[in-house]
Amino acid sequence: MAGKLATVLDVTETKPFDLYQKAKQFGKWDPQKIDFSKDAQDWKRLDADEKEQIRKICSLFYHGELSVHENLAMYFIAMPRFDQKAFLTTQMHEEAKHAELFAYFFQSIGEQFDTSTYMIPEFVSVLEADLDRRSRALLDAINGPDEEREAALVDAVTHYMGVVEGLLAESGYYALEEMAKRRGILPGLMEGIKQLRIDEGRHITFGMDFLKEAIERNPACVERINAVFDQYLANIHITISYVLDPNPVGIDSDKFLEYSLQQYRNRLEAIGIAEPAAN
Ligand SMILES: [Fe+2]
Ligand SMILES: [Fe+2]
Repeated sequence: MAGKLATVLDVTETKPFDLYQKAKQFGKWDPQKIDFSKDAQDWKRLDADEKEQIRKICSLFYHGELSVHENLAMYFIAMPRFDQKAFLTTQMHEEAKHAELFAYFFQSIGEQFDTSTYMIPEFVSVLEADLDRRSRALLDAINGPDEEREAALVDAVTHYMGVVEGLLAESGYYALEEMAKRRGILPGLMEGIKQLRIDEGRHITFGMDFLKEAIERNPACVERINAVFDQYLANIHITISYVLDPNPVGIDSDKFLEYSLQQYRNRLEAIGIAEPAAN
């Protein structure tokens, strides 16, 4: 233990430790302190399609947040260093708050429904089943050779921080914010999303920094990272069409797709790898 404690002094300048300090400083918002009274008034005036699209996007977010919160425990176990684990303790707390935000929003506007009805197979795979599988692989690799553990972490971090947070969630905010902005509605939910996005910025940065360093140690990681992104980019048209059905404020699907693909490119740039020619 003494050796582990001593490493605390060695990590104060690392990127994960810096993100950990930022999380302590900026991650203090509370979903339960957000005023949803105007949202409740707005909700009564929305038409059926508007309500349907908001229920759908928020249900996908809710299931995603529950799943990442649950799975992050395995990332915490598998990460080798104190500074990485310290940051992930803040992330786990924040993912719980994010799930709470969506639950509390619907509770506050008096809307109760079964969120699982919106989970089509493509979202069940990427948000739940495949993420669970990556987490089991992490546990299997913990006591194996370092290269196996690193490979499992690269797959899992690409999936979680790259695809789920860095591609799908970013795209979801876009649709939700476009809708709220064009209609001038739901200020409480938008305040929560604003805070949530600041948290998610740290989560994504942590993941992309991890992948960048993994590539510096082993350039062959690039292929693993591309394989995970490719698996879900193949479904991007399906997921966008689903989110835009119905499409009451007329969000342009081409612009939406371009926004999503730009998020993907931003992630690759942060990791420091070029976009594969096939994409
Ligand atoms: Fe989250
Ligand atoms: Fe997150």
